[in-house]
Amino acid sequence: MTEEDDHLALEAIEVDLFIEAMLRRYGYDFRDYGRTSLTRRVRNLAQQFGTGTISALTALVLHSPERIGEVIGGLSVPASDFFRDPAIFRALKAHVFPVLASYARITIWQAGCARGEEVYSLAILLKEAGLYEKSRIFATDISETSLASAQEGIFPLSDMRDASRRYFESGGTQSLSAHYHARYERAKLDRGLIDNVTFAEHNLVTDGVFCEAHLILCRNVMIYFNDRLQARVLNLFADTLVRGGFLCVGDRENLRVAGASLFRPVEGAPSVFRLRSPVEPP
Ligand SMILES: C[S@@+](CC[C@H](N)C(=O)[O-])C[C@H]1O[C@@H](n2cnc3c(N)ncnc32)[C@H](O)[C@@H]1O
Repeated sequence: MTEEDDHLALEAIEVDLFIEAMLRRYGYDFRDYGRTSLTRRVRNLAQQFGTGTISALTALVLHSPERIGEVIGGLSVPASDFFRDPAIFRALKAHVFPVLASYARITIWQAGCARGEEVYSLAILLKEAGLYEKSRIFATDISETSLASAQEGIFPLSDMRDASRRYFESGGTQSLSAHYHARYERAKLDRGLIDNVTFAEHNLVTDGVFCEAHLILCRNVMIYFNDRLQARVLNLFADTLVRGGFLCVGDRENLRVAGASLFRPVEGAPSVFRLRSPVEPP
């Protein structure tokens, strides 16, 4: 065994013990997260906390419940963008909005909302389509620090230039700047965009159904999960959606085997799927 192999074997044990500590002490279950990227994040966290080793990080975490928010924040990857992958928003507008419009009230769940860029992007498009007023959007995440930041609705003004281009590519019909106020290098989103949004902690690994939704967006979250956890989450989504409800995932995600029996792709709408009816052939 080379020194490198020995180091990796030791690190694998340390990560196992860290995961066990998070589960037994705080109830956070990371056992079914993809191991390579989780290991990278645990390593970064040890560096951020200045503990040197992952074992020392585990000891610190076990004895510091007051830092658990910071730990979860460090393990989650809140990377997002306004109107990320515009083709998907265009597809939602063209294929999903007309169906949503037929409901008296619309319920949308955005799972893994990070700092809110995606939920505000959706809110803007719903508003421009005249659907926002009758919508209730639940935006959830595992990280309370991300949720607190999302709730503020304040973003660097420098993000808005590229966002404006993607807004038009997504089918935006006004001007993105009509939806925020610029002040001191910051963009504060119109408070009206938050009125119908409820931000809440929800862990896709352990929490259950809490609403009946017409549309669920869960983009770039399941990529961090192994096949077993993806299957659990897809079943949770199927149980949450109304008959014929829609699921939108990230552009690099396919629904693999578990998803294919529950959802069918919507023709012409990349990354958008529809719940199969129980009698529909797979
Ligand atoms: C890369 S971001 C995706 C943000 C946004 N959906 C997008 O596509 O731009 C992944 C988010 O998933 C959240 N997440 C990770 N594990 C989760 C879990 N078990 N339950 C809920 N959210 C989770 C992270 O905290 C992070 O905010």
